[in-house]
Amino acid sequence: MDSDIPITSEFDSVDPAPPSEDRNVENLRITLNDSKKKMFQRMRALFALRGIGGTDSVEALAAAFESKSALLKHEVAYVMGQMQNPHAVPFLIERLEDVHEDLMVRHEAAEALGAIGDRSALSVLEKFVNDPEPVISESCEVALDLLQWVASNRLNLSD
Ligand SMILES: [Fe+2]
Repeated sequence: MDSDIPITSEFDSVDPAPPSEDRNVENLRITLNDSKKKMFQRMRALFALRGIGGTDSVEALAAAFESKSALLKHEVAYVMGQMQNPHAVPFLIERLEDVHEDLMVRHEAAEALGAIGDRSALSVLEKFVNDPEPVISESCEVALDLLQWVASNRLNLSD
């Protein structure tokens, strides 16, 4: 394949790895969570799970929040935001609330909560919008604005 062709997907993003061709959620969960596997293979599993979607895929992805890799956890939060499945909300809230978590992961969890647009995330985003870490406070601010924007657009649509 021509290396100049970016890897695009139905999510309109250019991803760091093409999705694995395996469509078995359990296999993909195992690969994603295997710290002995190369990060490229783990990311291929991650993007395959994003493509398959559904509750089981969200749970397989959430299991990777146990990983030691901040990069991988950040990517998990990112795809959860793209999937827009409210089943991911409690897992993302847990990452945002964990003050010992890597800032990159907490930032992406906040933005994903905004992208999912479930109002059950409102109070946690309001709690951290004044966080002393600018990357956290700014991410929460963006997420809150997005939630508000989505809500007002829904109102306009129902007029
Ligand atoms: Fe990010």
